[in-house]
Amino acid sequence: MKGRLIMFRLNNGVEIPEMGLGVYKMNAGKEMDDAVRYAYEQGYRLFDTAQMYKNESGLGEALEKNRIPRQDIFLISKVDNCNQGYGRTIESFGESLERLKTDYLDSFLVHWPGQNRERMLDTWKAMEKLYTDGKVRSIGVCNFEVCQLEYLLANCKVRPMIDQIEHTPFMHDEKLLGFCRENEIQVMAWGPLLRGNLDEDEIGRMAAGYNKTSAQLLLRWNVQQGIIPIPKSKNKERLLQNISISDFEITEEDMKRMNAMNQNKRTSYDPMVFDF
Ligand SMILES: NC(=O)c1ccc[n+]([C@@H]2O[C@H](COP(=O)([O-])OP(=O)(O)OC[C@H]3O[C@@H](n4cnc5c(N)ncnc54)[C@H](OP(=O)(O)O)[C@@H]3O)[C@@H](O)[C@H]2O)c1
Repeated sequence: MKGRLIMFRLNNGVEIPEMGLGVYKMNAGKEMDDAVRYAYEQGYRLFDTAQMYKNESGLGEALEKNRIPRQDIFLISKVDNCNQGYGRTIESFGESLERLKTDYLDSFLVHWPGQNRERMLDTWKAMEKLYTDGKVRSIGVCNFEVCQLEYLLANCKVRPMIDQIEHTPFMHDEKLLGFCRENEIQVMAWGPLLRGNLDEDEIGRMAAGYNKTSAQLLLRWNVQQGIIPIPKSKNKERLLQNISISDFEITEEDMKRMNAMNQNKRTSYDPMVFDF
C-alpha cells in the first residue's frame, strides 16, 4: 500500500478515510476492474458510486474480481432522484446492494435535495429506517444548501452524517462549510479536480511552488480543511499522484489565497432551483 490515509470520524463515531475514489463515468469491465485494482493497491479505501451512474454492478464486479475484502473498504452509493420517496428509497437500496454484491453500505446518500420538501422528508424517513435497521453504517445527503440542511435537521430523527457537495477554490461556500462544521456534518468534495479542467494558471503556479501538480494541490487543500475529496481517475499514474498528498502542507497564507478564489462557479445544477 503506497498512500497513507488518515481516518476522519463521522458524527456517529464511524471512521471514514480522508479521501476516496469517485467512479462517475467509469466504464464497467476492464476500465473499472483495473482502476479499482490500482486504487486498492495504492491505498484507496473509499469508493463512491450512485444509482444514477449506472455502474454499481461494474463496481461490485470489480471489487469481487479483485478479491477486495468487504470490511477493508468504505462503500458509498446514492439514491437516484427517480427513486426518492419512502417506498422506492427502501426498495432501490436493496437493488443497489444486489448490484454491488454486498449486504450493507458504509454510507447511503440522497443525491439531490429537489424542491419538494414533503418528498425530501419521506426519502429521509426511509434513510433513517435503513440506518436504524443496521443496513447502512451512515446516512447523508448531497448538494444540500444551508436552508435545506436546516429544514432536514429540524424534522429528522437521525441527523445526516455527510453532505457531499461540489467543492473547489472556485466553488467554495464558507457559510455552508461553517454550518456543516457547527452541526458535525462531514463535508465531502465532488469534482475536486475541476472535473479534469486543470489548466488553471494560478493553481498551476502555486502547485509548482510546492513541487506538486495542480491535482495534488487541489486535493491537499481539501483534506487540510477536514474535507474528504473523491477524485475520479481511471489512470494508474494519476491514481497514485492523487493519493500522494500527505508529504506536504499548504501554508496558511496559500490556503487563504485559494479560499479567496471563490466565484460560486458550479459545473452542475443549482440545488436551490433544480427539481425532478
Ligand atoms: N453527489 C454529486 O452530485 C456528484 C456530482 C458529481 C460527481 N460526484 C462524485 O465525485 C467524483 C469526482 O467528481 P468528477 O468525477 O465529476 O470530477 P473530478 O474528480 O474533479 O475530475 C475527474 C477528471 O479528472 C481527470 N483526472 C484525474 N486525476 C487527474 C490528474 N492527476 N491530473 C489530470 N487529470 C486528472 C480524470 O481523468 P482520468 O480518469 O482519465 O484520469 C477525469 O477526467 C465522481 O466520480 C463522483 O463519484 C458526485
